[in-house]
Amino acid sequence: MISLPHTVFGVLLSLSLLSGTSLLQAATATPPNAALLYHNYCSVCHGDKGDGNSRGKEGMNPPPRDFTHPAARRELVRERIIASISQGRPNTTMIGWSAQLNEEEIAALADYLLNRFIQPQAGIAKHPGKSLYEKNCAVCHGDKGDGGRWTSGMSVPPRDFTSERGRALGREAMIDAVSRGRPGTAMAAFAGQLQEQQIAEVVDYIRLAFMALPEEIEGLSGTYAHGRQTPPAPVSSPEPVAVDMQAPMPQGLSGNPDAGRDFYMGNCFTCHGTAGDGQGPRAYFIRPKPANFFDAKYQQGFNRAALFTAIRDGKLGTEMPAWGKVLSAQQIADLAEFVFRAFIQGGGDGIVGAVEKKTP
Ligand code: HEC
Ligand code: HEC
Ligand code: HEC
Repeated sequence: MISLPHTVFGVLLSLSLLSGTSLLQAATATPPNAALLYHNYCSVCHGDKGDGNSRGKEGMNPPPRDFTHPAARRELVRERIIASISQGRPNTTMIGWSAQLNEEEIAALADYLLNRFIQPQAGIAKHPGKSLYEKNCAVCHGDKGDGGRWTSGMSVPPRDFTSERGRALGREAMIDAVSRGRPGTAMAAFAGQLQEQQIAEVVDYIRLAFMALPEEIEGLSGTYAHGRQTPPAPVSSPEPVAVDMQAPMPQGLSGNPDAGRDFYMGNCFTCHGTAGDGQGPRAYFIRPKPANFFDAKYQQGFNRAALFTAIRDGKLGTEMPAWGKVLSAQQIADLAEFVFRAFIQGGGDGIVGAVEKKTP
């Protein structure tokens, strides 16, 4: 179940934890990728949008800090942020990170929090793509990215970047559209007027200012990807060979499916769907798609033990978080038991019916 690269990264990570040096420090001198660090270490509690609205927040007292709240703008100055990330906050789940992250990484994270969540306007105001956008694009795409008013009469109106369809545009597709234009529409090719770098800047500005997706981390993911400069290729699991589907939970644990259902309906359904079919509300924005537990691969290969490991470790190269960082072994066993009974063994009957009544 655990693929080789995953294991290797796990070992590397624990080694770097033990020795107190950072993987990044050891491997390369390029600046840290704060977005990736945030995604891997912080978003599980503070949320992708920095508002503390996360899959991990359940039951935390105090809750993870909402960086977008006006109070954060007043209180969280750079020095305090750096101190809190390094040393943690006593008697909370906010641990100190100075053993895992070096000073440079912690400073980069502090700037990332400030620019992206705490004072996003300040960060965006200084973005190099902003003036390019205002000069070349705003006339059609609008100051707010949702289309200039006068363009409503165009046979093909400009894409509304803030809409669901707009937000689904990939960075590369956007760069391509800006470079080469869109034949038969008012969208001209800018390759002659703007340099490649400027096109990338204006696209990044659009994504940051209007699309509000963590674009820097698109396609990059995986809990142990920390410090890598290129995204690891998604690891595809080998075809299952005659798995014993009745194998018990590891570590002598026994899961409580009701507790598992409650957590699933609070935290997993956004991606995997209330019915376990991978059609949750966030699935649209995610590649590769969240697992559909009715696929043969899961039906035939994921017994309780495999589910336990998969939930605990997450999946390298995908959006599947490593829940072992925030949940106890018992909570993971509860989840594995629920997923197993409701979607793998139940084949969608019985428990799923009961589940639907509890859907949020
Ligand atoms: C396991 C959950 C969890 C994780 C993971 C986590 N945090 Fe926190 N964080 C919290 C909680 C809870 C608080 C609120 C603590 C308090 O109220 O004092 C907090 C507070 C903070 C604060 C505000 C501290 C202050 O001075 O008031 C900052 C800044 C912060 N976290 C940054 C980070 C960064 C950066 C990461 C990733 C490296 C991270 N956190 C990872 C739970 C978490
Ligand atoms: C004269 C009006 C006009 C200007 C100026 C303009 N666009 Fe567009 N843009 C459009 C229209 C119309 C479309 C819709 C094309 C389509 O749907 O095929 C579009 C589509 C796009 C798309 C999405 C393409 C897709 O695949 O849906 C991107 C990205 C884009 N524009 C970026 C820019 C950027 C960046 C600039 C400035 C450098 C810019 N546009 C300037 C009219 C304009
Ligand atoms: C942000 C979206 C997201 C959330 C939240 C999420 N998952 Fe996933 N999950 C994924 C993706 C993406 C995959 C990978 C599918 C693939 O490999 O093609 C995945 C895969 C899985 C797998 C199979 C792993 C494997 O090795 O193939 C299991 C089991 C799973 N998730 C359970 C859960 C449980 C339980 C929760 C809640 C505690 C959860 N997931 C929350 C996105 C998510």
